[in-house]
Amino acid sequence: MEKERLKELAAEKAVEEVRSGMILGLGTGSTIYYALLKLGQMVKVGLDIIGIPTSEQTSQIAEEQGIRLSTVMENPVIDLTIDGADEVDPSLNLIKGLGGALVREKIIAHASNRLVIVADESKIVDYLGAKVPLPVEVVQFGWESTQMALNQICQRSVLRQVDDQTFRSDNGNFILDCYFDQISDPKQIEIRINGIPGVVDNGLFVGRADRVIFGAADGIQTQDR
Ligand code: A5P
Repeated sequence: MEKERLKELAAEKAVEEVRSGMILGLGTGSTIYYALLKLGQMVKVGLDIIGIPTSEQTSQIAEEQGIRLSTVMENPVIDLTIDGADEVDPSLNLIKGLGGALVREKIIAHASNRLVIVADESKIVDYLGAKVPLPVEVVQFGWESTQMALNQICQRSVLRQVDDQTFRSDNGNFILDCYFDQISDPKQIEIRINGIPGVVDNGLFVGRADRVIFGAADGIQTQDR
């Protein structure tokens, strides 16, 4: 089965948990896109939800789909958030942020009573850091100094560029993509990185996912924490 179809299957399975009256966190990325399309269809036939987007990109897509939106400031407690991931380990710890939305995603995940992650099976790893770098959002001021400190923890880091421009998050910050052989103690690495002045947050989500739904060639796989 094509990867896009696997993403769509996982996203549609997660949307089955959505009920009228929910405050729903809306993640970011190409897998969540399918959840937004499905939610849009359901809203048109009467589903009554308030969506809390994790990025400007998601906000725009959700609006196009007719999903009513609000903010985490107005709704500090979120019933359920559905989001994607870049890597998932056997304990359902995650790397997120290749799309650049990690800070808002983590704030919204923290505010949520339940976090459901959707992904295709290519995101499954034995150890985090095996396939993708760990994104770390840093303030622009003194970012070179922040990078030097980060490089004491990871092997190397790269200032993210997109279309020959330095990438800026929705919060106006830079992202340093940090390469590891493997991250064997994600909680410890999350804490150490966030202790560096200039770091806003990093893309390790440890013990936060309640359920991960994988789209796999032989069907949907659901894993609960
Ligand atoms: C956005 O910053 C990320 O955390 C995404 O949730 C993650 O990159 C998954 O995106 P895809 O569904 O596009 O792989």
